[in-house]
Amino acid sequence: MALAAARARLPLRALGCPLPHGLVPVAARRCCGEAGGPAALPPGGYGVWQERAARDPAGFWAEVARGALRWDSPFHTACQACPAGGAARWFLGGRLNVSVNCLDQHVEKSPDRVALIWERDEPGTAVHVTYRELLDLTCRLANTLKKYGIQKGDKVAIYMSVSPLSVAAMLACARIGAVHTVVFAGFSAESLAGRIIDSVITYNQAVRGGRIIELKRTVDEAVKNCPSIKHVFVAQRTDNKVWMGDRDIPLEEEMAKAASVCAPESMDSEDMLFMLYTSGSTGKPKGIVHTQAGYLLYSAVTHKYVFDYQQGDVFGCVADIGWITGHSYVVYGPLCNGATSVLFESTPVYPDPGRYWEMVQRLKINQFYGAPTAIRLLLNYGEEWVKKYDRSSLKTLGSVGEPINNEAWQWFYHVVGEGRCTLVDTWWQTETGGICIAPRPSEEKAEIVPAMAMRPFFGIVPVLMDDNGKVIEGVDVSGALCIAQPWPGMARTIFGDHQRFVDAYFKAYPGYYFTGDGAYRTKKGYYQITGRMDDVINISGHRLGTAEIEDAMADHPEVPETAVIGYPHKIKGEGAFAFIVLKEQTAHTDHVKEELKTMVASKIAKYAVPDHIVVVKRLPKTRSGKIMRRLLRKVVTEQSNNMGDVTTLDDPSVVKEILDAYQKYKEKTSL
Ligand code: WTA
Repeated sequence: MALAAARARLPLRALGCPLPHGLVPVAARRCCGEAGGPAALPPGGYGVWQERAARDPAGFWAEVARGALRWDSPFHTACQACPAGGAARWFLGGRLNVSVNCLDQHVEKSPDRVALIWERDEPGTAVHVTYRELLDLTCRLANTLKKYGIQKGDKVAIYMSVSPLSVAAMLACARIGAVHTVVFAGFSAESLAGRIIDSVITYNQAVRGGRIIELKRTVDEAVKNCPSIKHVFVAQRTDNKVWMGDRDIPLEEEMAKAASVCAPESMDSEDMLFMLYTSGSTGKPKGIVHTQAGYLLYSAVTHKYVFDYQQGDVFGCVADIGWITGHSYVVYGPLCNGATSVLFESTPVYPDPGRYWEMVQRLKINQFYGAPTAIRLLLNYGEEWVKKYDRSSLKTLGSVGEPINNEAWQWFYHVVGEGRCTLVDTWWQTETGGICIAPRPSEEKAEIVPAMAMRPFFGIVPVLMDDNGKVIEGVDVSGALCIAQPWPGMARTIFGDHQRFVDAYFKAYPGYYFTGDGAYRTKKGYYQITGRMDDVINISGHRLGTAEIEDAMADHPEVPETAVIGYPHKIKGEGAFAFIVLKEQTAHTDHVKEELKTMVASKIAKYAVPDHIVVVKRLPKTRSGKIMRRLLRKVVTEQSNNMGDVTTLDDPSVVKEILDAYQKYKEKTSL
């Protein structure tokens, strides 16, 4: 009874309480307001800004930052090299609050502008949340966190599906200076427990593609192995009851009692805003740290200019908030710009493969930003799923996370975009904070080459390096992609291990940021990303270290050795392919393989599970004992006897052994 009354005082719909099916849809509200526009650049045009940003990044970004952000106190130094090495620091001496930039400044001018459209799992049940409502939610949540002792600098994990409440949780952390770390709701209990955190905010359950996901139960598992967690705030996404222990706090009940005003903490530009764990080529996932002002500015400016976001547009980025794309282009960039941002809770094929386009029609989405893996999946279902819906609202289409192949690009451009929308293939990384290479901005009529990221954003100076660490000049050349000068959105460190940060990104090519990707500079000087140069693979746009998957299988008593590589997959872009060595007496090979798959799913996530596992007698190793993954990749992708230079192999006869094992596996399966 008390709970019902408490909820009634809140903008109920936004809290994640399920609405009875068929009762909505809520009438679309006005999406644009009178004032408070997107981040603006100084006078000039594309060419002028490009030239100025490359020549004088500090001066350029200082001017943009003064106009685009609301400061509590101004910065005295725009850009300074980091004394400990690594990324530069930006806007020193400046103070601001990110949530004020994303909420209060818009509420003052147009409180009823729609900030979020929550496209919930069931189509036709969208919930609109205004800037005023989102500020209310954020403040109540911030006050609740404060009540339980969470302070500036504390680490709060957000383990939730995408919803207004999860966005409010991110902004509530920003409001009080706590550091959020959003953990994708598909990650396992073990992954969650591996994060350095003080508290968790979660849902009782999540709903995706018509299925229930037991989030709270996973948190309960994680908490057992993570004594640092003091509080678990549990919100209700469904009506189902879940077990509540001593550490668990019913979030909505507390929010109903909390004040709807919360004074923002004034933060230093370089204070930590969030960390986001991502995979590298070695070790466990690392907590990439982004700071306040530089990150916010870069995500807002790229959001505005890469997608040509205009005030009043409905921006539809279908990424989950558990990834950097969700941080920069669902939450921070759009909200800083006072945009209306869509929160997509479902999947591209639920309830049918027309879901995206039916949503585009119903919500009148103007910019649609998604992943190539979804496009590749949808194009198999045929054009009629697209064509039956009105897509005339669409102006810009975007692709992110992995290379987009030509077929997918053409389908996206011609079928979805009817050949009249700008399609931007955007290259960037968790570490870069925002888009670094994309066809736009550029002069209005400038050409766009299919399936190519093409042009550096303002202030981004890409260079290609050869094997000897020398800059490769000229055109029609390939090399390791580095960035030559700092930009505000660059990550500042790896949480708790600055040396690892410096080693991973600034050591290979001193004075340059090394991206880990290779690139080709075309005859016209455009950039085409050729893929990772390290042992990181990209499954459906999700980054994974092959070593991480190997580690997850390492504890199996029957499997002394494993080697994982990425292989081309028609839908996922890449899939994981494992080679394993079994102990001699092992009898039940199929059973062991199933156990290995379960281990990967429970230690990392389902998407990390290898599609194929081939048993070999031994792995190819160099004389110094290193596994030659390059050779395994050749076996899977080329199946030729030409293995390139194998002189460093300990015993070259291993090549034939592996080829034979692979052939046998191929004959037995549908590979
Ligand atoms: C890859 C995602 C080709 C790349 C925003 C990068 C891409 C990694 C593209 C970062 C693209 C991202 N074309 N490859 N347009 N976008 N990648 O950190 O290998 O999850 O290094 O950031 O994805 O993945 P992350």
